[in-house]
Amino acid sequence: MSNAESAINRRTFLSKTAAVVAGGSALAKTALSYGKILGANDRISLCHVGIGGRGTELDMIVSKVAPSHNVEMTAVCDLWSLNRDKAVATNTKYYNRAPRAFKNIDEVLEDKDIDAVILSTPDHSHSPLLKMTADAGKDAYVEKPMGNVMSEAKSARDAVLKNKLIVQVGTQHRSEPYPRAAHDLVQTGVLGDVSKVEIVWNYHGPRWRGREVTKLIREQDTDWRRFLLNKPYRPFDPQVYCEFRLYKEFSSGIPDQWMSHAIDLVHWFMNDNFPRSAVSHGGVFAWHDGRENADTFQTLLEYPKGFLVSYSTSFGNDSPGSTRYMGKKATLTNIGDEGSPRYQLVEEKGTYEENPDIEKERASRYVLLPGETKLPPVSIDDLSLGHMSNWFECLRSRQQPHCTVEAGFAHSVACMMATEAYWSGKKQYWDAASESIVTRRHKRNSSFAINDCSDIIDCMASITIRQLPEATKRKLKIRAAEHGRSMEQEAREILKNELSKTGDPPKDLGKAIREIFAPLGGVKLQIPPREPIPEPNIK
Ligand SMILES: NC(=O)c1ccc[n+]([C@@H]2O[C@H](COP(=O)([O-])OP(=O)(O)OC[C@H]3O[C@@H](n4cnc5c(N)ncnc54)[C@H](O)[C@@H]3O)[C@@H](O)[C@H]2O)c1
Repeated sequence: MSNAESAINRRTFLSKTAAVVAGGSALAKTALSYGKILGANDRISLCHVGIGGRGTELDMIVSKVAPSHNVEMTAVCDLWSLNRDKAVATNTKYYNRAPRAFKNIDEVLEDKDIDAVILSTPDHSHSPLLKMTADAGKDAYVEKPMGNVMSEAKSARDAVLKNKLIVQVGTQHRSEPYPRAAHDLVQTGVLGDVSKVEIVWNYHGPRWRGREVTKLIREQDTDWRRFLLNKPYRPFDPQVYCEFRLYKEFSSGIPDQWMSHAIDLVHWFMNDNFPRSAVSHGGVFAWHDGRENADTFQTLLEYPKGFLVSYSTSFGNDSPGSTRYMGKKATLTNIGDEGSPRYQLVEEKGTYEENPDIEKERASRYVLLPGETKLPPVSIDDLSLGHMSNWFECLRSRQQPHCTVEAGFAHSVACMMATEAYWSGKKQYWDAASESIVTRRHKRNSSFAINDCSDIIDCMASITIRQLPEATKRKLKIRAAEHGRSMEQEAREILKNELSKTGDPPKDLGKAIREIFAPLGGVKLQIPPREPIPEPNIK
């Protein structure tokens, strides 16, 4: 039996046999007995690994939803004794008893009484620790970015998928009500064709430098070699330990920290997961404090569906941030920086060239939740509860959570491409077939660029409509009307969306069209056989 199977079986065992084990004193120190003492037979036993700044927030979040989801932090794990002791004290307050304390994750993963693990260690360790957790058959909540080394991110994802685990990646805005409402709005097609997404998130200050904890860390209180994990040895450095976001071997800085959140939302809203190519620029322009990673950074990513994403951050000026989805029918602006709940939809009509006052004539509205009339704020903290709750629900239902390991892998790929483009100064391409980042497009394996094929798609759309059975045509017409498109435009959109998923041009046009339109009722498409070429009549 694999570790994954044994973990799941133990859960089933727990709910079925709680009455039998209820009084077992031999189990006094196990999670099983935690379930018994608190009078619940299916309590989920958690261990939290890496409890620094973010970890302390996550502990608070877990404690708030723990009673309603029947979970408990029964163990904590941190290399650093100071943070480990703090985590024991905090969780003792939350649950009225002390969690077990571990220094190394290996001991956590061997412990059969821990069902699931929360990982909020520094960026470079997410994928390696996630892989170890998955190999041990335990579910996980892992902070973003899911990974920043391609081979490690792939191995972690593969281990999670192989063991059929429930992994939530920590881009929590996916579980917040306003981004969810905005996402649903975009899915209606209200924006029309989106050709550009512009993201600007700024801050004024030497971000990530000068953390108070940097003065407290001492080598003898932690395990420096374990902190380094897969990185080559270097002498102990308190700044690398606590300010890892500034050092290129451990984090890419702005892409790993901020762009991971931003691009994750773009992927989700646009239903397009892997950039086709990326170029980046930036540098250390604002804070010459020994940091390696850029404090001013901009990247441009092109996506297979045919749109460009511009992501830009400056730490030298706090000008207002926003994210704009620019479509032919409307613009959706997320007003504010990371996670802002304020979204505004503005009709796209006319041009400034024709009418300098055109903005006044464009209808607009805010995205509000049902029954709400007040505008939401333009910023949010990192303490929303929904993402953690969603993971707990999925641990029980075994459904996939809001940010799956595959979505986490996709945001990691986008951040790695942006980073590679920055450091190399060269345009980077995503090779979908080999799942690797390459500098020159391999002709045979290159991603299928929908942009390059718009003529084929137009042609396919018009052939398709003519060939559709009446019932399917009616469905297409309704769907087109819902999206405010003509039937041709709707057919084109369906084709474009579906083809961008395959990564390759279809070899058999007829078959591809039949499959794409199957959900609408099927297409009996007869592509007429080619006229036989007459034998040359040579006399
Ligand atoms: N989702 C969000 O909004 C959000 C917000 C902030 C931070 N984060 C993420 O959280 C992560 C942690 O950031 P932080 O500011 O809390 O860092 P931190 O330095 O404050 O805390 C990291 C902790 O992990 C411990 N640690 C390091 N390696 C370990 C290992 N191998 N095993 C066990 N413990 C280990 C350290 O001792 C430390 O206590 C980052 O990757 C960041 O991207 C996410």
